[in-house]
Amino acid sequence: MTQASAPAKIILFGEHAVVYGCPALAAPVSSLRAYADVVAQSNPGIVIHAPAFGQALPVGLDVDIVDNALALTVRLVLTATGKTTDALAIHLHSDIPIASGMGSGAAVSTAIARALCAHLGVSMTDQALNELVYEVEKLHHGNPSGIDNTVIVYEKPVYFVRGQIPAPLTPKTPIHLVIGDTGRAASTRDAVAGVRARYDADTVAVSHIFAEIRQIVTDARQLIETGTPAQLGVLMTRNHELLRALTVSSPELDHLVKAALAAGALGAKLSGGGRGGIMIALVTPETTSAVAQALRHSGAVKTIETEIT
Ligand code: PMV
Repeated sequence: MTQASAPAKIILFGEHAVVYGCPALAAPVSSLRAYADVVAQSNPGIVIHAPAFGQALPVGLDVDIVDNALALTVRLVLTATGKTTDALAIHLHSDIPIASGMGSGAAVSTAIARALCAHLGVSMTDQALNELVYEVEKLHHGNPSGIDNTVIVYEKPVYFVRGQIPAPLTPKTPIHLVIGDTGRAASTRDAVAGVRARYDADTVAVSHIFAEIRQIVTDARQLIETGTPAQLGVLMTRNHELLRALTVSSPELDHLVKAALAAGALGAKLSGGGRGGIMIALVTPETTSAVAQALRHSGAVKTIETEIT
């Protein structure tokens, strides 16, 4: 058996605007992972067992399924490596909430591709893997910026601009965050389409929002790299307000953001596609547990404490 895994991710600043060429900051959450196990089997064919992902089991590859992200990942790996194989089973399991802004789709594809390459005895560079997972992301998102696959494949904090080589993001001091999960799955594809509709309806107003987000990301990058978390919190909460104006927040997300701030967080915002999924709160080691508790009291189904270094 060969096993591989890949982490979840959070977007610190700049989601949605990143689709339109603005920069964004993102980081892996290495404590939450998707795992793929590849096992040789006696029956011919490739089957993917993915109970948690609501996939019909098993997913056969003998028919031309290219609208299935898991099957497409396998297909792309076989094409890229020039290998043919059958008689194997891929078992997936994951700690990452699905459709919640944490990059579950990209993490699963990355884990499958890595485990399959290991099983086939071939290596794939991170760059090639990143491109492959981006192809699969198009099924999930329609028009992805590429930030999810990049931060997940490289498993490093990044300053990301669509179409450019990502730059590393190096915090001067550790950034402490609490992630609050609304427990409400939401489609990133729909949220991205919603922003597109706003943009088409009022391009001038939405361009102003993007310009402010661009400035926030630039300032946040500098604060992170010089180590001034209190001011970073103000930028985070402002980024949330701008995401609300883009229509991608939800009552649950707004409620959790307010609860985090009231409990002493330095700042808070939704993270990822929005309309559900997760939010993040900037905390200090002293306020972490009070903020996590306040989030759970305010309806978060789960809280995760994480540190970006
Ligand atoms: O996968 P999610 O929900 O974290 O969304 C990714 C971030 C977006 O900016 C909303 C979309 C994109 O492709 O960058």
